Formats: sequence, C-alpha cells, structure tokens
Amino acid sequence: MPKRTNPRDSLFATAAIFNERRGKIIVEIGGLAQAPGDKHFELFGGSVLVWAQQTTAERIYSVDIDPRVARRTRKHTQEFENVEAVVADGVAFIKAFDQPIDLLYLDACGPDSGADHQRFPLDVFEAAMPNLHSDSLVLVDDTDLGDRSKGLLVVPRALLAGFEVLWSGRQTLLARAGVVHPGCSSRSVVG
Ligand SMILES: C[S@@+](CC[C@H](N)C(=O)[O-])C[C@H]1O[C@@H](n2cnc3c(N)ncnc32)[C@H](O)[C@@H]1O
Repeated sequence: MPKRTNPRDSLFATAAIFNERRGKIIVEIGGLAQAPGDKHFELFGGSVLVWAQQTTAERIYSVDIDPRVARRTRKHTQEFENVEAVVADGVAFIKAFDQPIDLLYLDACGPDSGADHQRFPLDVFEAAMPNLHSDSLVLVDDTDLGDRSKGLLVVPRALLAGFEVLWSGRQTLLARAGVVHPGCSSRSVVG
C-alpha cells in the first residue's frame, strides 16, 4: 500500500483562501487527534493549530465527541483566545449552531469506522446547509481512499448543492461555483 501524504499543504492552502475571503468563523468536526511532536501529528494534520496560527478567524469551534480529545485541543490551543474546544456530536452541534459558517472542516471518524465514515460527513453537511453562504468553504479530509473515501457521499451532495471542487487529493476543498478564487485553479491538486 503506498504511503499516504499528510494533509498539511491542503490545510495551509485552505487557510490562505479563508483569509482572502475575510472569513470569520471556522467549525471543524474532529479535534486534535495527536499532540504537536507526536509521531503521527502531521499525518492527522493538527488542523486546529493551522486554523489558529494561519488564519485571521474570529472564532474557531473545534468539536469532538470524545472529551479526552477536546481536552487535548484545549491544552494545545490555550494561547489562542479565539479557539473553543467543544464536546459534542458533530451533527447535534451543527443543528444547534445559529451563525454563518465560513469554513466547515469535516474530519470526524477514521477510515476504519465503517459506513459512518461516509454517512457522517454527509449528515453534518446537510445539517450545515442553512449556515453555508456564497463564500463558504467546505473541506473534507481522507478523500484519497477510493471507495473508502470520506467524501464518497458528501462531495456529490455538495456538487448538487452548487459547490465545485477546488482541489481533490488527500483532502477535497469545495466552494460555491462561480466565485472567483484568486491564485487557485479549479484543477489544481494540493496534497
Ligand atoms: C481523524 S480525527 C480528527 C483529526 C484532527 N482534525 C487533527 O487534525 O488532528 C477524528 C476525530 O473525530 C471524532 N469523532 C468521531 N465521531 C464524532 C462525532 N459523531 N462527532 C464529533 N466528533 C467525532 C473522534 O473522536 C476523533 O477525535
């Protein structure tokens, strides 16, 4: 089995587009899986730290169903007042969330969690539809796994909802079709 790339290039490129769009609110479903310095930190991505360090977001909600993960997120983002680590099921959190979402990051469940791995991102996306606007970005992790891709259900659903793929590889970034993306070709692949 070929070695998987890590998602860091895609996370950084997404952060840059988020800033260009003057995004304010990030919601990520799936908190800090590994602490900085851990062996697999880069493979998982350390996404909340990328959002905290590389974006100008006013608020970053990092949602995880596992309290231990939320504790880890809290511990490693203490210096960032704009980060909130929330313990909740991702769908339940989004259903109760009443603010616009400028970046939705779908990274809950690992590839080994069976059907949920594909159904869950779709359920979160459907729940988030009222919060997504013309400039919203939706980033999906683990989309390089063929028929085990985390994007198998959610990416086609997003296309039906008027999104287009800005890049696809280790991750897939989706944005509304027809919006100009400076410095970004719709065919470029990041990671
Ligand atoms: C791949 S990890 C997230 C990695 C993280 N984004 C990073 O860069 O380190 C997936 C996380 O999803 C969480 N998770 C699983 N089911 C969930 C659910 N229903 N709602 C919220 N989080 C969930 C797991 O507890 C796990 O911590």
